[in-house]
Amino acid sequence: MCTFYAKIQRMELRTDLYLGDCRKELKKIPDNQVDLIVTSPPYADQRKSTYGGISVDEYVDWFLPVSEELFRVLKPTGTFILNIKEKVVNGERSTYVMELILAMRQQGWLWTEEFIWHKKNCFPGKWSNRFRDAWERLLQFNKNKKFNMYQDAVKVPIGDWAKSRLRNLSETDKIRDNAKNGSGFGKNVSNWIGKKTVYPTNVVHLSTECNNKNHSAVFPRELPEWFIRLFTRENDTVLDPFMGSGTTIEVANKMKRNAIGVEIVPEYYLGVKEQFASLEYYLMEPEPEYGSLESS
Ligand SMILES: C[S@@+](CC[C@H](N)C(=O)[O-])C[C@H]1O[C@@H](n2cnc3c(N)ncnc32)[C@H](O)[C@@H]1O
Repeated sequence: MCTFYAKIQRMELRTDLYLGDCRKELKKIPDNQVDLIVTSPPYADQRKSTYGGISVDEYVDWFLPVSEELFRVLKPTGTFILNIKEKVVNGERSTYVMELILAMRQQGWLWTEEFIWHKKNCFPGKWSNRFRDAWERLLQFNKNKKFNMYQDAVKVPIGDWAKSRLRNLSETDKIRDNAKNGSGFGKNVSNWIGKKTVYPTNVVHLSTECNNKNHSAVFPRELPEWFIRLFTRENDTVLDPFMGSGTTIEVANKMKRNAIGVEIVPEYYLGVKEQFASLEYYLMEPEPEYGSLESS
């Protein structure tokens, strides 16, 4: 393990990088330490040539020891965002992600939400029985129903629709208008007058990363950034147990969060380590033992 410290505007930030299997390395992290986990593990049966590839049938059993450790290190107010997507096997979508969700619920996790990552720039293609895959799952898990969430930090511009829609309001627009279908939903359109920003939806529209940083499955920086904004504040701690090229760790650090990353492939781990060493960080050297220094 190596630790980097950075001083940013009188704030001391810490980054811990671990080389090894996260099922083992996560055991070194104390309980209830982490505010947010954002990660993308190897998907089942994918990228076998680069970093293994776990079969669909083994996936849940492989992942549960990891999620058990993640549950332990996450604070009760924390959030876990898991980027994953099932592929097509023998003409059918595999069900291993659904099985994983059910198994994690048995483990104590709440499956709070599912965000969709809409990949704006995915490759065109043609298949005989389906269209091109342009989205991935971003599953949100929590330990409790009450967790830290800073919704104002991800507000978006209200958009042009407001200009025309709010110009001529009907009488119904000025009161709460309950949906006619009995769904219980309702809206008061006039509430939006004067508002410049609104809350986003649970669909995150981002392009995939094309500058591959010597890694085949790099996050676009905006992906961890959006969740770090939404679920943490400065000086909180962000963990990526499958850090790859270290996108989550780098973004967390730039956003003044402490970071912890684990990576099993030495080449990727060293790449992240070098990246930090070249910045204005200082590496924690082990303290010399008392009496080990000769007096001059
Ligand atoms: C999908 S990639 C993550 C990419 C990362 N989000 C990025 O932006 O670069 C998954 C990473 O997990 C690593 N990995 C696979 N099994 C692991 C394990 N048991 N423990 C730690 N890392 C592992 C792989 O080497 C790979 O770099």
